[in-house]
Amino acid sequence: MMAEPQIVDALQEKEVPARSKTFYLETFGCQMNVHDSEKVIGTLVQQGYRQVETEEDADLILYNTCSIRDKAEQKVFHRLNDFKKLTDQGKRFGVLGCVAQQEGEHIFERAPHVSLVAGSASYRKLPEMLVRLELGDRRITGLDDRQTEETFETEFTVRSNPHRGYITIIEGCDKFCAYCVVPFTRGKERSRTSSSVLAEARRMADAGYTEIQLLGQNVNSYRDPEGKKSFAELLAAVGEVPGIRRVRFTTSHPRDFTRDIVEAMDAVPTLCDHVHLPVQSGSSHVLKLMQREYTREWYLERISWIKAAKRQISMTTDIIVGFPGETPEDFEQTITLLHEVQYDGVFAFKYSPRPNTPALSMPDSIPDEVKSQRLQILLDRQREIQRVNYSKHIGHVLEVMVEGYNQTRGQVIGRTSQNKTLNFTSSQPILPAAGSYVQVKVTKSFPNSLLGEAVA
Ligand code: SAH
Ligand code: SF4
Ligand code: F3S
Repeated sequence: MMAEPQIVDALQEKEVPARSKTFYLETFGCQMNVHDSEKVIGTLVQQGYRQVETEEDADLILYNTCSIRDKAEQKVFHRLNDFKKLTDQGKRFGVLGCVAQQEGEHIFERAPHVSLVAGSASYRKLPEMLVRLELGDRRITGLDDRQTEETFETEFTVRSNPHRGYITIIEGCDKFCAYCVVPFTRGKERSRTSSSVLAEARRMADAGYTEIQLLGQNVNSYRDPEGKKSFAELLAAVGEVPGIRRVRFTTSHPRDFTRDIVEAMDAVPTLCDHVHLPVQSGSSHVLKLMQREYTREWYLERISWIKAAKRQISMTTDIIVGFPGETPEDFEQTITLLHEVQYDGVFAFKYSPRPNTPALSMPDSIPDEVKSQRLQILLDRQREIQRVNYSKHIGHVLEVMVEGYNQTRGQVIGRTSQNKTLNFTSSQPILPAAGSYVQVKVTKSFPNSLLGEAVA
């Protein structure tokens, strides 16, 4: 949405200082937050602010926060404490994102130097909140407790990468897994229209983007408000936008993972060979406690669809160890699931009790040492799986998108369609530029990356 005209007028009447106002923004958390920040930056620039690199240089210091685990939440309070002294110089502090929505006005009590607390569902009102901040208001809140039906769309997005960009297609979450804060911090599930998503994809292609990543807490729960396209159809349509060479999507929820997503991947070559499908646990007993709404067998059926695709599709997942009630046998089932699926990557976390969630009051909590032991066992086993998986690429030629250059190692950094890092050397006098596509022969493998040589 564009800035409302009356707000811009108010700003002009109020005599904006000749020197441009500056802001510093640090982002924590998931890709949704990273992309929200790109939209927040666009909105601030539109309001006459200039981004600076340090807290010391900024008039307005913003933290876009994450609350998924306790450690993530604590980070922002450490930052606020570390830079509190800057308030003496008239600087203002704002807390955005998931901790803002979760803690609300409590943040003013814990950190009285904060002037703005705004959750992601209120960013449409940012221009208005900025004006109030400039007029001297010291307690501004933008909070929304699962009321908003609208999505945050703005044409002022400032994307940090000129080749590969995000598009949020669905915000919020209605799943309420027993351990998770997201339904409370991100609000109700709400999708953008497929026309607006496709228009943005076309604008990005026109601006030179070749890779698009569709985002949502549950990206495949997408429901077109216009009723024109299913998620799989939207995915295919984005993949068919002229100029787009790679399309990714994250995060899929197993409950809404339908077979037509794999059919779209089969039909449209630009859809990347990768699915991130968080399982959380290999035990149906724990999945039930987690309120994930599927069983191990249900999940494995979806995996079998992906494995039956025409191209080889890489799979990654998220796992929580030490959820209340997880027995050694339950944990063992998670380990056997890793072997059965053969993931190329696993994001594993120790269960962290979170405010507002049902799991907080569940019995049989697991001691931290046991959580740590289980996490270590899981990571060790997964490392061996990846060592074997990655070695299977040796001798093959893969296309990479160039991401940059590692000076110390003298290697170009590339990413494959399967989302694997493939670093390579090149005999050409001029190195391939970031954003270009290169064919690379894999010569060596590690559990987390590949090494190769550019094919002439
Ligand atoms: N919407 C996605 C995941 C979003 S959160 C899904 O449903 O899969 C990203 C990951 O953080 C989750 O997949 C989960 O593994 C982890 N996570 C969420 N809440 C957590 C908690 N309380 N403790 C530990 N890990 C958690
Ligand atoms: Fe959290 Fe579950 Fe929603 Fe994922 S689906 S964001 S884990 S509540
Ligand atoms: Fe964190 Fe909020 Fe994303 S809690 S993981 S920033 S949705």
